[in-house]
Amino acid sequence: MEITITINGEPTPLSVEPRHTLADTLRENCGLTGTHLGCEHGVCGACTVLVDGEPVRACLMFAVQADGAAVTTVEGLAGADGALHPLQEAFGAHHGLQCGFCTPGMLLTAAHLLEQEPDPDRATIREGMSGNICRCTGYQGIVDAVEAAAAVLRGSA
Ligand code: FES
Ligand code: FES
Repeated sequence: MEITITINGEPTPLSVEPRHTLADTLRENCGLTGTHLGCEHGVCGACTVLVDGEPVRACLMFAVQADGAAVTTVEGLAGADGALHPLQEAFGAHHGLQCGFCTPGMLLTAAHLLEQEPDPDRATIREGMSGNICRCTGYQGIVDAVEAAAAVLRGSA
């Protein structure tokens, strides 16, 4: 099927089979390998992308379902000048990642959380990030990073 998805602001025509997932299409058709595949059945959150601003498990969505939608992947988080997003800076600074496998999904989930809730307390951050699994960090650094990025984005840090 011929579809068009606006990916990180770029309208992108794609030729896909109906059985192809959004995650595979992003990785294999578009070369956007920042969308990671862990469990491939909706549990781990590593494949999280934003579809029309909402977090979606890209392993559970068919590419054809995203026809006409706007998709943001981790590659779209940094500024046009290559400057890292405050969340990316904060994950680095606060040890919010080790192997980095969960990180793209964490970042996009956190970006959505901070859109909805610019000044979350730590319990709200934990709840908001609870659908994303990390096998390395013990989560403390991730909560620290989201808290720090929230302050930067509010302009109070
Ligand atoms: Fe999609 Fe785990 S790879 S939720
Ligand atoms: Fe390794 Fe989260 S940093 S899974």
